Amino acid sequence: MSPIGIFDSGYGGLTILKTIRQLMPQYDYLYLGDNARTPYGTRSFEVVYEFTLQAVRRLFMEGCPLIILGCNTASAKALRTIQQNDLPQIDPSRRVLGVIRPTAECIGQISQTRHVGIFATPGTIRSHTYELEIAKLHPDIKVTGVPCPMWVPLVENNEADKPGADYFVRQKIDEMFHLDPSIDSIILGCTHYPLLLDKIKQFVPKGVTIIPQGDYVARSLQEYLQRHTDMEGRLTQGGTLRLLTTEQPHQFNENASIFLHHNVKAERIVL
Ligand code: DGL
Repeated sequence: MSPIGIFDSGYGGLTILKTIRQLMPQYDYLYLGDNARTPYGTRSFEVVYEFTLQAVRRLFMEGCPLIILGCNTASAKALRTIQQNDLPQIDPSRRVLGVIRPTAECIGQISQTRHVGIFATPGTIRSHTYELEIAKLHPDIKVTGVPCPMWVPLVENNEADKPGADYFVRQKIDEMFHLDPSIDSIILGCTHYPLLLDKIKQFVPKGVTIIPQGDYVARSLQEYLQRHTDMEGRLTQGGTLRLLTTEQPHQFNENASIFLHHNVKAERIVL
């Protein structure tokens, strides 16, 4: 079995897995959530890199020729080093891709005012990876990042659609439009935030486009596989999904249903 590996610090990457599987259900998938050590969003560069590399090695060991870092924080802080320094030594024929580049690509066609906002974890915002990627592709776009440390716990505690979440969502939207009132498009640069989409839409000014990244990541992966037929040919197509977690599976199974809307049975591993 040669599945597509999808890695996240915890549950959030399930939003990415879901959209990728919807578009390409034919492949086998192996999801790994590092739930025992989540969240990554508040951790240092060194630690996020170290943890992500361990996960990548494990997914390679399980037979994945291709891994998507479905976590923005890991994509921001670890992807480049893994691609440039580790992959050539571990196995140059395998690939590790992230979620930031495909999201940065799409924004050029969406923003009219060329003023774009990003909501993400403190780690992703501090890394400035979105700004750098967008500047490379669309130098005319002004990017304003706002960290939302409370949004991940709201989602993980199943509070995303409850009235208490309103305060935390409005607080960050107000902060963003205070910093730049010309913003016409906002990227949700964290895997958990699509679960707050309805609330975010409720409180942003009219005409502002909210961009959950899952669809763009899925389409970008599809195009990647169309361009790289050698990689596509290595992937097995049994339509299966296997889930690994570093925490106790019963907890994972319960929370994963918030993201996937169906029951799952994960296996525990140690990294
Ligand atoms: N998955 C992370 C991200 O997309 C959010 C959760 C965390 O902080 O670990 O940035």
